[in-house]
Amino acid sequence: MAELLQKVVEENRQGEAYAPFAGDTNIFHKKFYIESYGCQMNFSDSEIVASILHDQGFGATRNFEEADLVLLNTCSIREKAEQTVRNRLQAFRKTKDKKPGMLIGVLGCMAERLKAKFLEEEKLVDLVVGPDAYRTLPGLITEAEGGQKSVNVLLSREETYADISPVRLDSNGVTAFVSIMRGCNNMCTFCVVPFTRGRERSRDAESIVSECTDLFNRGFREVTLLGQNVDSYYYTPTHDSEGSHESVTFAMLLERVALISPLLRIRFSTSHPKDITDDVLHTMARYNNICKYIHLPVQSGNTRVLQMMNRTYTREWYLNKVKRIKEIMPDCGLSTDVISGFCTETEEEHQDTLSVMELCRFDMSYMFSYSERPGTLAERRYEDDIPEAVKKRRLEEIIKLQNNISRENYQGDIGKTFEVLIEATSKRSEHDWSGRNSQNKVIVFPKGNRELKKGDYVHVKVNTATSATLIGEMV
Ligand code: SAH
Ligand code: SF4
Ligand code: F3S
Repeated sequence: MAELLQKVVEENRQGEAYAPFAGDTNIFHKKFYIESYGCQMNFSDSEIVASILHDQGFGATRNFEEADLVLLNTCSIREKAEQTVRNRLQAFRKTKDKKPGMLIGVLGCMAERLKAKFLEEEKLVDLVVGPDAYRTLPGLITEAEGGQKSVNVLLSREETYADISPVRLDSNGVTAFVSIMRGCNNMCTFCVVPFTRGRERSRDAESIVSECTDLFNRGFREVTLLGQNVDSYYYTPTHDSEGSHESVTFAMLLERVALISPLLRIRFSTSHPKDITDDVLHTMARYNNICKYIHLPVQSGNTRVLQMMNRTYTREWYLNKVKRIKEIMPDCGLSTDVISGFCTETEEEHQDTLSVMELCRFDMSYMFSYSERPGTLAERRYEDDIPEAVKKRRLEEIIKLQNNISRENYQGDIGKTFEVLIEATSKRSEHDWSGRNSQNKVIVFPKGNRELKKGDYVHVKVNTATSATLIGEMV
């Protein structure tokens, strides 16, 4: 099956969508449908699941009504994320009523959080599988096909799926995500991830480099290295593994991936302000193909709140990190995550968050109001005491400020010329290309009459800008 799959993949190489969907081939005797929610790690895991299922003779379909197996890869990060999944499950109910043989499975963080309780709460679910248990999917599916509901939510200290080659789902054939580690050892008090993803572990460096090399050879031109805290990547090869026995830090890994080819762009996410080192910053500066962009979640601009969140840095530490980044890479783009209305946050402390945003001038932020999660340290220790209306108003202030800063930052790029990797035809017009610059800003520009294709690099001069897109022309 693996060989046949490779063939399908090869044939699709030039096509629009890279993933071998069931309609493309008749080598698969059953069909699965998968929907992913949450962070990029979940989307990346779905590609591992697709690979495991392909080996079992399941081909992917984009239409859940024709699937034998419907999977939801779920997220628990905020209450709303879980609500979305529950609503989605209800949408599958009608189809399942008409087609009782169809299996419905819940994967990912919500499966891990709720475990077997999921089967009691949602009667239409047949399978509950946690993020470290995907290798057992074939057995669990067989059990479920026999009419027995099945659950595996065991977390692992070793599993990294290092040897599984992900099947790229819905890929543009240019950019891909590569998981370099799993789990998280930080105990941010608001966060459910350490409970749903388990202990932090780093993936074998050789397997990462070979996956990236393979992607490059297949025409991909950008990889994003993924982990909840990439700066704490640390891999020690075992004595029976081939090659060097030296331990690999994140800076070393970045360099090894950058050396694959100057034409392969490297991005990474997420960095933790306490862990990002000068070594990483200097490595970024040394290689043109490591993108000058860092996503550095701040969460709050107030030291007392940061302490309650157990982020382990202060406001000043964060501001100094940003200063250091700009010293080493003056052109580095920055983005962040912010939470409004965490337990006990005062009006002045909220103002501190706004002032950090002013000082750092992020190009973009993911902004949330605090959502208490069952089982987290904050739920056990603190009262969720900020009224929803206050959280919402503070969030609106944060969003308004970020929109202004984004608009100013984007306008500040007018007149500049950037190297852009072409990713796709623009969604707005088939006459335009869309790509990103090193700083992760989207740039749209007319195709003109040059013979270009996705994956090519061009230089684009910016003429106008909105708060989320640069618009320019090739030079
Ligand atoms: N590992 C990453 C973040 C993963 S979760 C990091 O440490 O930065 C993505 C973002 O969701 C977090 O940065 C945080 O801003 C937000 N988030 C996490 N838990 C939350 C909660 N309980 N309520 C609101 N936002 C939350
Ligand atoms: Fe959650 Fe903190 Fe880990 Fe990020 S670093 S995943 S916010 S516990
Ligand atoms: Fe959500 Fe799990 Fe990612 S909770 S954000 S899918 S690690």
